[in-house]
Amino acid sequence: MNRKQLIKKYIDFFKSKDHKEIPNASLIPENDPTVLFTTAGMHPLVPFLLGEKHPQGKRLVNVQRCIRTGDIDEVGDSFHHTFFEMLGNWSLGDYFKKEAIEMTFEFINKKLKLPIERLAVTCFAGDKNAEKDKESAEVWKSLGFSEERIVFLGKDNWWDPAGNTGPCGSCTEQFYWKPNNIPAPKVFDSEDKNWVEIGNDVLMQYNKDEKGNYNLAKQKNIDFGGGVERTITILNGLEDNYLADMWKPIIKKIEKISKKPYKGNEREMRIIADHIKAATFIIADGAVPGNAEQGYVLRRLIRRAIRNLRKLDVPILEMDATVEIAKEVIKIYDDYEILQNNKKKILDELKKEENQFQKTLDKGLREFEKMSGDKKIDGKESFLLYQSYGFPVEMIKELAGEKGIKVDEKGFEKELASHQELSRTASAGKFKSGLADNSEQTQKLHTACHMLNEALRVVLKDKNIFQKGSNITSERLRFDFNFDRKLTDEEKKAIEDLINKKIKQNIPVELEELTLEDAKKAGAQGVFNSKYGEKVKVYSIGDFSKEICAGPHVENTSEMGIFKIKKEESSSAGVRRIKAVLE
Ligand code: ALA
Repeated sequence: MNRKQLIKKYIDFFKSKDHKEIPNASLIPENDPTVLFTTAGMHPLVPFLLGEKHPQGKRLVNVQRCIRTGDIDEVGDSFHHTFFEMLGNWSLGDYFKKEAIEMTFEFINKKLKLPIERLAVTCFAGDKNAEKDKESAEVWKSLGFSEERIVFLGKDNWWDPAGNTGPCGSCTEQFYWKPNNIPAPKVFDSEDKNWVEIGNDVLMQYNKDEKGNYNLAKQKNIDFGGGVERTITILNGLEDNYLADMWKPIIKKIEKISKKPYKGNEREMRIIADHIKAATFIIADGAVPGNAEQGYVLRRLIRRAIRNLRKLDVPILEMDATVEIAKEVIKIYDDYEILQNNKKKILDELKKEENQFQKTLDKGLREFEKMSGDKKIDGKESFLLYQSYGFPVEMIKELAGEKGIKVDEKGFEKELASHQELSRTASAGKFKSGLADNSEQTQKLHTACHMLNEALRVVLKDKNIFQKGSNITSERLRFDFNFDRKLTDEEKKAIEDLINKKIKQNIPVELEELTLEDAKKAGAQGVFNSKYGEKVKVYSIGDFSKEICAGPHVENTSEMGIFKIKKEESSSAGVRRIKAVLE
């Protein structure tokens, strides 16, 4: 079965169960400031999941294009993708657990013919907010699942809203035993990677408010999501998603332009395929490469693809590499009008970015020449080449080797590790620390973010104000925080004055490395639900501010200039947004 056949089968099945097909929405959400991209089929449906009447009724189905950047570091393995398609069906206050589970099972078992011997499910184990979901487990049992194949899990079986607030609930997931040569064990082990998640029925009965409370919703909904790529891989008995029909022509093209074979485990080829596919769709939906928001994600995707093409020794510009690969993407997805109608724009934008990156490449080479004057490349220098000019480490070593000089690889690793800490934080949610580059101006604005974080608590006399997101470009900072009303002009002025007073005190910005526990004890601010390493960096601005952060920052506030708030507005319910500059 190929992609189009699966999609047709799915839509037809749910239509036969009285569902109406709804359009596949843009990857760039309309009127939703809480997320950069559509990450699931339920996304465009939030108002209807909250009770608004949907013009098509209470039973809906579609296949939705999605982008998820949270797992971008995992791309390169056989099944993580930035762009993917999601099979989705919904009940808006209509059927609930029993019917949903029965339909899901009928589809995967009867229509897709996945045998129950190779299937297992998870249900919610219960916590302080919601009780154990015995009801779903009973339905699975009635369909023939043994108790050993029904596992109760905690937070893995809880679907929180995509943004901070909104519809949510527990879920029940379906898994398939992938290996063809090993019989499925009697007992299901959710940690065993041979069990692949293929579908997820979210049983929505709560609405999370801005205070973090889960309130019983007016309307109970079902939100099913299933991965097209994984399902196709399984149905065709493949080990590797990249051998499926929505990937193979892209891989073939990369083989052709790199003159190297794909033997089944080439990370570079997978990254190139994944990133160019995602970039093609993101451009089609209206973004262009840039330094902020969707444009910044797009730029990283294209440049990372180019860097990997270079690793494969592809003469990128001569080959028109990204353009040629994008053409394959457009061909595969000929059922997407948006790709066909925007073909020229997609190819032009890719070409432009390719050309522009070529310029930073030249600049980087000049930078390298300067750096190598003292006969060594230290950690900071090699990291700058890697980070700001997109030089792969191998290339830096090669360049240095030709000059007979050494690269401080340990120093590079250290810099890289602290950067990865940053990108992990950055990829959680909406690029939380959102540093577009490490230029002097962004460092200054980054330090200003820390000062603003503290100044808000001081001026508004509220210790419970916290950062809810931030994004920095070389022009301005953007800072989101929880607060439930507009700030007055006097308050904005007082915040500016306090920050400018501190800037003028020429305070050194100090860095310590502490364990997370010690950092908390020292009273450091931080986004504590994000992933931190064992040791964290803590930046202090005198006794004014202390925050866990990957940096980088200015060394002294005297470098910063004058802080000015340009805008203060609502970002989402209970969250305000400040845009500010340093002049
Ligand atoms: N919205 C649910 C998911 O993405 C179905 O898993």
